[in-house]
Amino acid sequence: MKLSKFGEKFTASTGIVELMDDLGTALNENPDMIFMGGGNPGRIPEAETIFKQRLEAVLADPDQLHSLMGIYQSPQGDRQFRQQIASLLKKQFGWDLHAGNIAVSNGSQSAFFILYNMLAGDMPNGGQRSIHLPLAPEYIGYGDIGLTSDFFTATKPEIELLDDNQFKYHIDFSGLEVSEQSTAALCVSRPTNPTGNVLTDDEIEHLDEIACRADIPLIIDGAYGLPFPGILFNQARPHWNSNTILVLSLSKLGLPGVRTGIIVAREEIVQAYSNANTVVSLACGNLGPTIARELFRSGDILSLSRELVGPFYQQRATRAVKLFRAALGDVPYRIHRPEGAIFLWLWFDGLPITSQTLYERLKSRGVLVVPGHNFFPGMKSDWRHQQECIRVSYAQDDKIVEQGIKIIAQEVIKAYESGDN
Ligand SMILES: Cc1ncc(COP(=O)(O)O)c(C=O)c1O
Repeated sequence: MKLSKFGEKFTASTGIVELMDDLGTALNENPDMIFMGGGNPGRIPEAETIFKQRLEAVLADPDQLHSLMGIYQSPQGDRQFRQQIASLLKKQFGWDLHAGNIAVSNGSQSAFFILYNMLAGDMPNGGQRSIHLPLAPEYIGYGDIGLTSDFFTATKPEIELLDDNQFKYHIDFSGLEVSEQSTAALCVSRPTNPTGNVLTDDEIEHLDEIACRADIPLIIDGAYGLPFPGILFNQARPHWNSNTILVLSLSKLGLPGVRTGIIVAREEIVQAYSNANTVVSLACGNLGPTIARELFRSGDILSLSRELVGPFYQQRATRAVKLFRAALGDVPYRIHRPEGAIFLWLWFDGLPITSQTLYERLKSRGVLVVPGHNFFPGMKSDWRHQQECIRVSYAQDDKIVEQGIKIIAQEVIKAYESGDN
């Protein structure tokens, strides 16, 4: 097979491809694997019941069933669904929104592919623009999304050391460089995948000011965040204005299989996005909107997030931290303060092996995690810290998480004791 440049780039085995391969292996070929790698959400029975009831109501009504399966939806998404989302966000947060500010995507990953490449890469004037990530580490799934090289730049974080073997990353605003010529947009995930960090309201305000001043959008990836699925363990304010592109998803509510993302942006951006989405996808899938419509109409999506989904993960995070503390003992470990999302981010200071080697050793012992170096798209430096971290999901059942943590701790202790490479 002779591959184009596009073919070479997008068929290569990258961090996200390896992660999703692991996920497929764990699901299909080796179900005994302890899966603490990918971003599959946990199972929340009450949420599953709500989705099931909604689906049953649709199946019982021939007209709704036809709307679900028998029509192409517009590439921007069903107008009534978009209207419901806009009304809810307007009522709840006072954001000046209507249906024209909302687009639906086939998962938020595909929305990022279009949005990023729409804004960054080779520019018509011959220049090049990149997406800037103000706080590395960031989501592994951005890494290979750009059609051109040098697609991302990133700012190294400040590290605040906390009690109880915890730490927290902050944006180093003194090192955050935005160029009007070469920066296309700022992007942060909030809560951050992989760390579970939640950028403070002040940090978001500061980023907003910088983006507005440079006349570039601030993209907020709310896959875990505000206002839904609400996987946050502290107080934070949802943010949107006409310079913000807020990208949301139904996945972490428990619906990753329906592949539904939601973009909230000013009309000009939404229109451009949906033209591009027509070329790429022709139309949006109907399943996610069909299941979620009633939740948006009633506002129950917010209470579901606040009362069920957020507390579910908070309880799991607390438990996972406790188990790691007990298992790691005197190892020089630190855990990023869990403020949201579905992962713990562990930092092993001075780890004698790389995070990739640790990942491989754990995989051979039947535990899947994600090695930390994959989460630094755009970071050009050879900062050792990138090789000293791993991301561990705590979304699976308690027993599985407990077994996995034991094995991770054993391998980490072994690596420090033998000091090998
Ligand atoms: C931070 C972040 N953004 C975006 C996505 C993409 O999610 P989806 O395409 O399922 O909406 C994920 C998936 O895990 C994620 O963790």
